[in-house]
Amino acid sequence: MRLVFLGPPGVGKGTQARRLAEARGIPHIATGDMLRQVVKSMSAAGRRAQALMERGELVPDHLVIEIVEERFACPDVRKGFILDGFPRTRAQAEALEAILRKQAATLSRVVYFDAPAAVVVERISGRRTCKKCLANFHVTFHPPSKPGICDLCGGDLFQRTDDNEDTLRERLRVYEEQTRELIEYYMRRGLLTRIDAARTPEAVFEELVEAVG
Ligand code: AP5
Repeated sequence: MRLVFLGPPGVGKGTQARRLAEARGIPHIATGDMLRQVVKSMSAAGRRAQALMERGELVPDHLVIEIVEERFACPDVRKGFILDGFPRTRAQAEALEAILRKQAATLSRVVYFDAPAAVVVERISGRRTCKKCLANFHVTFHPPSKPGICDLCGGDLFQRTDDNEDTLRERLRVYEEQTRELIEYYMRRGLLTRIDAARTPEAVFEELVEAVG
């Protein structure tokens, strides 16, 4: 199972990817999480990435592609993978094809999670993330048992710095401008499945499992 999850920021890609990856025993490769690790390293590349991420812009293709190439050198991806948040540009999609070609592999499916902007805005504004294990909660839709504390590992929950109104507006604009064209790109290759993501996490997961087999 070699999957790409595509869709606007906050639509629920990470939530579904974590669940499916655990159920199928395959790695969940989230470029946003990987970039936040690079930011923590305080390297020059990390500082540049941080500034772009805080503004809601994409980090340069060459940096993300390098990170993904390194990840694909690990043997666990041979079992399959879920790519969450990559590719986001045509150049990244072409780079992914080249990476897979070297491994004599192809994508099995690209799942496009679709929901209206209002749903996405509500989800992102209420998201809380665990500092320790990166699990996501939502103040209304998936509240933790104890406010501010992760149910899974007891870590502190925080609101991502890019989950504010201004940055979100920019992230949505960037998605429309640079990422949306990938829907057509993968549709032409017969790989795309659209899922209505504006429903409960359980309903979305059920359709996802049906779609990916
Ligand atoms: P990234 O971390 O990838 O952010 P994103 O794509 O904007 O996606 P999110 O993590 O915000 O949302 P999600 O769809 O995973 O939703 P989630 O499951 O958390 O990227 C951040 C930044 O890094 C980018 O802006 C860019 O700068 C950079 N970057 C990353 N990849 C890059 C790349 N390839 N190229 C260049 N730059 C890159 O759910 C959201 C909330 O909703 C949660 O609270 C959750 O509990 C709740 N929720 C989920 N599903 C449901 C549901 N069905 N019903 C109700 N609530 C739900």
